[in-house]
Amino acid sequence: MNYGLTYQKPRFMKKLTIGLFAIALAALMACHRTPSENKLDLSVQWKFHTGDDIAWSGASFDDSKWDLIKPTDNWENQGYKNLDGFAWYRLRIVIPHSLIDDAYIKDSLQIKLGKIDDYDQVFLNGELIGENAKVLPVNTEPRPDFFNGPSRWDVSRRYVLAANDPRIHWDKENVISVRAYDSGGAGGMFSKPFEISMIDLPDHVMFDFSQSNFKFSGDTLVSKQFAIYNISQNEDFRGLLTVKANRCDNGNALFKQETILDMSPNLHMVFTVNVIKDLSVPATIYFTFKENSSGKEVNAQLEMPYILTPKPGKAPRINGASVFGVRPWSPFQYLVAATGEPPLAYSAEGLPEGLRIHADNGLITGAISKKGEYKVKLKVTNSFGTAEKDLTIKCGELISLTPPMGWNSWNVWGLSVSDKKVRQAGEAFVSSGLISHGWTYINIDDGWEDTHDKNGNILTNSKFPDMKAMCSYIHSLGLKVGIYSSPGPKTCGGFEGSYTFEEKDARNYADWGIDYLKYDWCSYGGIAPNPNDRELKFPYREMRKYLRKVNRDIHYSLCQYGMGEVWKWGNEVDANSWRTTGDIDDSWESLSGIGFVQDACSPYSAPGRWNDPDMLVVGWVGWGPHLHYTKLTPNEQYTHISLWSLLAAPLLIGCDLTQLDAFTLNLLTNDEVLAINQDPLGKQARQAWKSGECQIWVRELADGSKAIGLFNLTEQPLPVNVKLDYLGIKGKWMMRDAWTQKDLGFVQTHFEMNVLPHGVKLLVLRKN
Ligand code: GLA
Repeated sequence: MNYGLTYQKPRFMKKLTIGLFAIALAALMACHRTPSENKLDLSVQWKFHTGDDIAWSGASFDDSKWDLIKPTDNWENQGYKNLDGFAWYRLRIVIPHSLIDDAYIKDSLQIKLGKIDDYDQVFLNGELIGENAKVLPVNTEPRPDFFNGPSRWDVSRRYVLAANDPRIHWDKENVISVRAYDSGGAGGMFSKPFEISMIDLPDHVMFDFSQSNFKFSGDTLVSKQFAIYNISQNEDFRGLLTVKANRCDNGNALFKQETILDMSPNLHMVFTVNVIKDLSVPATIYFTFKENSSGKEVNAQLEMPYILTPKPGKAPRINGASVFGVRPWSPFQYLVAATGEPPLAYSAEGLPEGLRIHADNGLITGAISKKGEYKVKLKVTNSFGTAEKDLTIKCGELISLTPPMGWNSWNVWGLSVSDKKVRQAGEAFVSSGLISHGWTYINIDDGWEDTHDKNGNILTNSKFPDMKAMCSYIHSLGLKVGIYSSPGPKTCGGFEGSYTFEEKDARNYADWGIDYLKYDWCSYGGIAPNPNDRELKFPYREMRKYLRKVNRDIHYSLCQYGMGEVWKWGNEVDANSWRTTGDIDDSWESLSGIGFVQDACSPYSAPGRWNDPDMLVVGWVGWGPHLHYTKLTPNEQYTHISLWSLLAAPLLIGCDLTQLDAFTLNLLTNDEVLAINQDPLGKQARQAWKSGECQIWVRELADGSKAIGLFNLTEQPLPVNVKLDYLGIKGKWMMRDAWTQKDLGFVQTHFEMNVLPHGVKLLVLRKN
């Protein structure tokens, strides 16, 4: 094993050894991002106005009365609720000639404008320079119908102009005007980066980390493959590549190596960096390529994953929900989720009549005829001991008494989901051990449907040859199955919806053995284009009516992106959960933009009635056949799981479960964190305190404890001083770190903790 930086030669080349030498480094407290040079920041001071007038492109137009807006977040999140159609953004900025002077390659200027949902025309000093991510030549007239065609919402806008383009006013004030058109849902500019720079060395030489994720071997070795590219057609770059890793807690150097690189045009080289460290220690790897002739540098950095979740012990431990709702006579299915050295023997005392537990796998099945509350004692035994846990079975009208935990195909496979991929997900729940931590649902999202036949039965497309057989296979694994449809004629992916076929669809779902329905507004927008309150509820009531008629407990999940403040009336239409926001993606902007605005919905969440801030974006995601490892940093992923647990959110994993890595598994198998999500009191956390970019969220737990999330939304490590007053509590409390599952000692009045950039401390305070 080579513990260092290793170069992967292309297979056909003679083995190439590169000179590597380790250098001791002074400690650097630097786990934060370094600002890049020679860039103008375009992320502040934008003016905004709704409507459309081409005169707003002009340099001399007076926009002083327009609103200020952040370009990094969509306009819906900044007070322009339900705004579809046109709006304009304007920014004044001096473009200094020093950008050219300081550049090594002096040909072209680039203007980066994040992403724009859905369409845009961009003007510089009144002249059109680009449209829908395409650069336009001088004197192009703006097309009035630039918003016809496929949505460009997910395309980064980068407009490149020759340095001598007359539309640029060097050393003078320039006005950038953006005419945006949103065809529905979230709208306007969002994401990152927003900047102007010359196309210089960093645009030709780049690091690429997307090929693989971090790999762990043994207890201390973490490896990462990366590539460095010279994408230029004609420039030769020679320089020094430095790779170093520092701990984030004390800044100590873990690793440093340097090597000379000679990079001819169109070359790319692949390396692996191997760092030995305690797996639980957060660290950052810094990559620098310093080019010889220009003295310029290209930098990148990567947070290393760190594993906080302890491995399950050999003795049995029972996880999962401690309260379970079922309707009379509905088929009952509850799996006792337990870890411990196999074989495990399961038993239960006090099961109501009609139920039995399977001793070898812990599956409780049957049906209960009488409404009532049944107290059951679960027992799991192996050669290392016995674990016990109380389970309350509530037979009544309400189901999903704790948030559903499972997998959904959308964030990983998008419309390329298939029977095989769904079965594989189910199998992976078992083989990875996720099933032992309470993960239950395997949900098919959009992309399974064909048409309705002449009898009104919904048919599956060729990717799902036998839905009923697939469902019984998933059930045989001890899991449950979910499906997706729309109240409209078409789903969001353009497949057949349930419109006018609701009753038949509900019956078919029940016949197949479906346990969960995600019902997505989509083309119902065509039926109720400006829905009032009644129209918003109508299609959801309609499907609920038929779901209630079948003899199956089907979790009813509304997906309509939070329209009409659904959290206030979701329970009225008898939904079990409802999406409170638009679709999530694997970026910090999306995650934090959704997660940290859930406070308003919080009072409306209760057992069986959950706010749903959308699915998880950890692991290998892709929304289609081509996957990539989540772009969230490890800290951001801890924030994601911690916040979703505090929010009592449905936890639906959205990644390829056949490629689960040790870090992702660590995120998804922490029983103390999951217990916060599954707490039977079912109270969603509230934002208890906020100062600048630091927030504290508190969730009351059934046993009187408080789950606390300390969140750092900045890009620097932050010491957070917590007064117990902020949490609304007094006295002496035992504090426990939920991720490391360690008691941290007693606290009284206040305590202080360091929180990593975009990171979290998830604590449980237990009354002494
Ligand atoms: C909408 C939903 C997503 C997904 C897709 C499927 O965008 O919000 O979660 O279900 O539709 O087309």
